[in-house]
Amino acid sequence: TPIVARTLPALRRALDTLRARKATVALVPTMGALHEGHLSLVRQAKRRASKVVVSIFVNPTQFAPNEDFGSYPRTWKADLAKLAAENVDLVWGPDAKTMYPPGFASKILTEGPALAGLEDRFRPHFFGGVTTVVGKLFTQVRPDIAIFGEKDFQQLRVVTQMARDLDLGVKVIGIATSRERDGLARSSRNVYLSDEERRAAPALYRSLKETAGRLRDGDKIKAALAGGAKLITAAGFELDYLEARHAETLAPIRSVADGPVRLLVAARIGTTRLIDNIAV
Ligand code: PAJ
Repeated sequence: TPIVARTLPALRRALDTLRARKATVALVPTMGALHEGHLSLVRQAKRRASKVVVSIFVNPTQFAPNEDFGSYPRTWKADLAKLAAENVDLVWGPDAKTMYPPGFASKILTEGPALAGLEDRFRPHFFGGVTTVVGKLFTQVRPDIAIFGEKDFQQLRVVTQMARDLDLGVKVIGIATSRERDGLARSSRNVYLSDEERRAAPALYRSLKETAGRLRDGDKIKAALAGGAKLITAAGFELDYLEARHAETLAPIRSVADGPVRLLVAARIGTTRLIDNIAV
């Protein structure tokens, strides 16, 4: 079973033990409600470092007041059991007072093309919360590498930018999206889907694949995206965005030749918002 640290002094003691004998440390930041997608990150972390730290913290500052912070699934005991089964070395599970003590008043602000648009347009509070909490996690744990999922592709790029800009000395590594058999990207929020919505949900990934195929076959970006948007709304989604961006910088692109290209989508089905993305 992993060491469990819930306060900063306990974290420091645990890290001192882990770091003896020149261990390399990988951090996998999560908000808990762990599923197979999170565990695929943990397995990749084990392959790349001698010690694996998983953080579990439902970060209030990345949720807007009207979002699901209160109802976000919290499954601490089941999470610990899953991490024990993966031989994780340390679980860092601070409470909100430890992360944001009274008087806390700082924020990490990352800008640039990786930030512009996409999630930031629909959730303007989101990346400020993510960069600040991930920056804190990096300085608390001081890992050699940190593992993030491509599922949250813009988050992966923004965190990479932040770590580089602030010389945090952490190598950020992205891992391919883990999917259900029918293609739906695994997500802690999938539990919100009704049976009917769950049956409709794989259309999001199917539409991405269809759109990527059309781009590869030479369709213009504008036409391919319009076709993809139609497929997504026909399946019962309300589309927030479907965009083609440069896969590395996330800068907008005009043609596939400006690539490598990444398609990114966010859409709502009922009250649940899903995101996904795919390489072209
Ligand atoms: P959370 O949604 O719990 O995700 C934790 C990590 O798991 C993220 O890097 C995310 O991209 C990855 N992940 C989620 N579903 C995945 C899937 N189906 N396949 C592969 N990876 C997947 O993302 C966050 O938490 C938070 O914003 C956090 C970075 C912890 C900051 O609070």
